[in-house]
Amino acid sequence: MENSGLCRAHTNIALIKYWGKRDENLFLPMNSSLSLTLDAFYTDTKVTLEPTAEADTFYLNGVLQGEKETQKIANFIDLFRHEANNNSRVKVESYNHVPTAAGLASSASAFAALSGACRDAFNLELSTEVLSTFARRGSGSATRSLYGGFVEWNKGIDHDSLSSHAIPIDAADWDVAMLVIAVNTGEKKLSSRVGMKQTVETSAFYPAWVESAEKDLIAIKDAIQAQDFIRVGEITEANGMKMHGTMLGAIPPISYWEPESVKAFQKIQEIRAQGIPCYVTMDAGPNVKVLCQGSNIEKIKKILLKDFKPDQLITSGVGSGIQSLKLS
Ligand code: DP6
Repeated sequence: MENSGLCRAHTNIALIKYWGKRDENLFLPMNSSLSLTLDAFYTDTKVTLEPTAEADTFYLNGVLQGEKETQKIANFIDLFRHEANNNSRVKVESYNHVPTAAGLASSASAFAALSGACRDAFNLELSTEVLSTFARRGSGSATRSLYGGFVEWNKGIDHDSLSSHAIPIDAADWDVAMLVIAVNTGEKKLSSRVGMKQTVETSAFYPAWVESAEKDLIAIKDAIQAQDFIRVGEITEANGMKMHGTMLGAIPPISYWEPESVKAFQKIQEIRAQGIPCYVTMDAGPNVKVLCQGSNIEKIKKILLKDFKPDQLITSGVGSGIQSLKLS
């Protein structure tokens, strides 16, 4: 019997954001969200069962991790041990392939890859949809990294964990790409987990955010089906800005923006005014992500190079869903 699994999962960037949980224990979101999986950023994770070991061990990029990091993933792996009725400890070896300059959080690809590797190592028969409900419990955004292309994360019903899962959006070949403008690659000051909780609990705008995100989701799905890039971009940019506006309404206010983020946003607005469709989205950090068409990416980069350094500009095409890799 095979006792290890190796999986690759790509990261994703939300076009309709997830910002707030209705159940913190089960990672159930307040609203459904939608993302684009990126091919340039991914995590490879190997999980090996170690039945005689007393504790899990966790290597990240070849470095043995301390107690705190290991405990975090050990709790997550308990979900698989419980499902498989197998209490074996494991060795986890994870490699993040995210250009350091991109400063992109890798929890989405990390928990998606770890889920797939655990499924294979524990020999569990789990559909991709069900696997996404496991990944969700490591980090909400990981739910969407199970599939490639455009992916919806349906918020689900009440406290029913299985109902809150990823759904791939069937979209014909799209000329869509993402350009990351790396503003600051240091660790973020406030984690998304803490930031979203504070927003849910204190922002007067929060109910309006949830209502409007649900409407944006319906609208963007229509625009994706119609292959209307401009509409997809407009909805993406507006949704991200509404999320940041909602955070500003929290007490104390939350802002992940830095002066260079504002500069990047303004530059993208200028480029758009020149007739090149490109749209900004930002997450729980100062880096700016630009949704554009692959055919325009070089033109956009050329203009941005007047204000940003070459290594601040990282491009990515559309990524695929989770893959089990061959063990050597
Ligand atoms: C702004 O998935 O990192 O990127 O579920 O607490 O781990 P936890 O949060 P996380 O939050 C992502 C927030 C976001 C928007 C998004 O990806 O939808």
